[in-house]
Formats: sequence, structure tokens, C-alpha cells
Amino acid sequence: MNRLDGKVALISGAARGIGAETARLMVEAGARVAIADILDERGRETARGLGDAALYHHLDVTSEESWGEAIAAVTAKWGGLDILVNNAGMFLGKGIEEATLAEWTRLASINLTGVFLGTKLAIPALKESGAKSEHGSAIVNLASVAGLVGSQLDPLYSMTKGGVTLFTKSSALEFSRKGYKIRVNSIHPGVIQTDMGDQTFTARARSQGSNDVEAARQIALKTHPIGRLGVPNDIAKGIVFLASDDAGFMTGSGLVVDGGLTAQ
Ligand code: NAI
Repeated sequence: MNRLDGKVALISGAARGIGAETARLMVEAGARVAIADILDERGRETARGLGDAALYHHLDVTSEESWGEAIAAVTAKWGGLDILVNNAGMFLGKGIEEATLAEWTRLASINLTGVFLGTKLAIPALKESGAKSEHGSAIVNLASVAGLVGSQLDPLYSMTKGGVTLFTKSSALEFSRKGYKIRVNSIHPGVIQTDMGDQTFTARARSQGSNDVEAARQIALKTHPIGRLGVPNDIAKGIVFLASDDAGFMTGSGLVVDGGLTAQ
């Protein structure tokens, strides 16, 4: 189950967090994985830890040129691309009245423009490999529970993730209409313990006029009926499934991995 033998994957924002854990699981599942990020030192270290089946390439998801270079490097080295994970993202943690236009522009350029550019630039390679595979090639987009329901903490982040949710469905429909065998699905994590997860606790404390990050963490925990916060491995397993042929009848779907948060 969930094997990726012989597949080539590119994961944006994979130097750390959910992306790094996804790279590790994909290598375990038999794939070769390109870790792409702006954190060059951390990204190289993550790739080194995975041996010959992984490489690091610098990628700024907001730049079309950077996407072109990263995808060209991967296809030149490994002869194609089967899986794209649009994972890079940022969290702002400010209300509408506090956020500036410059902050919104930065957030949108990473969380929205980054997903558009990655999808667009990867189409030729994914189309080619998809045509040769029974269940096609795959894109997995990192949305969020904040792309399904509103966010009290970060309405602008929620706006970007809502965009990712529907762009996933629209791109799945466009590719199907055009006869491209590229499946596109999104994943919707609850609060996951990563650097970004920590940023959400700080933002939650600040929004209540407090510096007590641990108290904010406990409040976040209580919003997850399952009784714990998520870890990167919880999400990486879902991403590997969506990228694998076991999800061969899934496109335009959203996989919710949130400990019951949005069931309430
Ligand atoms: P993280 O902050 O640990 O990792 C994000 C990675 O994206 C970092 O390595 C960062 O350098 C990279 N990145 C940022 N800007 C970039 C750019 N311009 N170009 C290339 N890479 C860039 O965050 P985490 O938690 O691993 O998040 C991964 C994805 O999951 C994000 O899209 C996030 O929005 C989403 N997510 C995370 C949740 C959480 O609670 N941690 C919850 C729901 C969704």
C-alpha cells in the first residue's frame, strides 16, 4: 500500500516541518525526492539525511524563474517528474485591522501565487509522466482546516487557504477536461507541531493580550476532539497516500486530517 517505487517527487518548502517529513516517508516508499526551499542550509541537511534518493534545490515559490530552474534540474537528474507537493506556506497571525498591505502581498505571493506557479510550471513534466502511468501523475496541495472554515486568528491566511482548496478542485477539472492524467488533491491539517504550529500559539496568545504561549497551546489542543495536536507524520502519511496509485480514483478532493477539529 501507498508505494511510490520509481516515482520522482518535488516538494516545496521541504527543508523542515511537514515537507521534510513527507520527503522522508516518500523516500521510504521508494521515491526519489527533490527538497526545494529558500532555507538552503537546512534543506541541504534534510536532503543529506535521506541519502542518494534525495537532492536539494533552491526554490523561491514566488518566482517563476526559480520554479523553472528547480523543475529543470530535477527532470535533468532523474528523467521526469511524477509528483508535485505544493507545501511551502507562511502564517501571518494578525487580524484584518493589524495586517498591512505589504504583509498581505507577501502572504498571498507565497500561499497563492506559489501554488499557481508550481502547478503551471510542472504541467509539461507531469503531463508526460502521467500519460505513461495507469493512475496518472499527482499534485498534492497543502491547504488547511482554515481553508474549510473561517479562522479567528488569521483571516488573511484563511483567505489564501480557501483559495488553495478551490484551486485544487478547479485545476483537477481543467486537467481532466484537457485529457491530462494529472490528479490534483488537497490536504487539510489541523494544528500540527512545527515552527508554523508554534507561530499559531504565539498569535493566539497575542490575540488575547497575553504572552502565555503554553496556555494558548492548551486552548488549541482543546479544539481537537481527538485529544492531541498533530505531528508532521500524521500529515505526511496522508500526502503519500494522495500521491500514490492507491488514490488513483481521487481528483479534486480534500483529505481532512485534523483530529476532529472541523467535525464540530
Ligand atoms: P513550516 O513553517 O515549518 O515550513 C514551511 C516551509 O516553507 C519552510 O521550510 C519555509 O522555509 C518554506 N517556505 C516559506 N516561504 C517559501 C518560499 N517563498 N519559497 C520556498 N519555500 C518557502 O510550516 P509547516 O507547518 O511545515 O507547513 C507546511 C504547510 O502546511 C504550509 O503550507 C502550511 O500552511 C500548511 N499547514 C500547516 C499547519 C500547521 O499547523 N503547522 C496547519 C495547516 C496547514
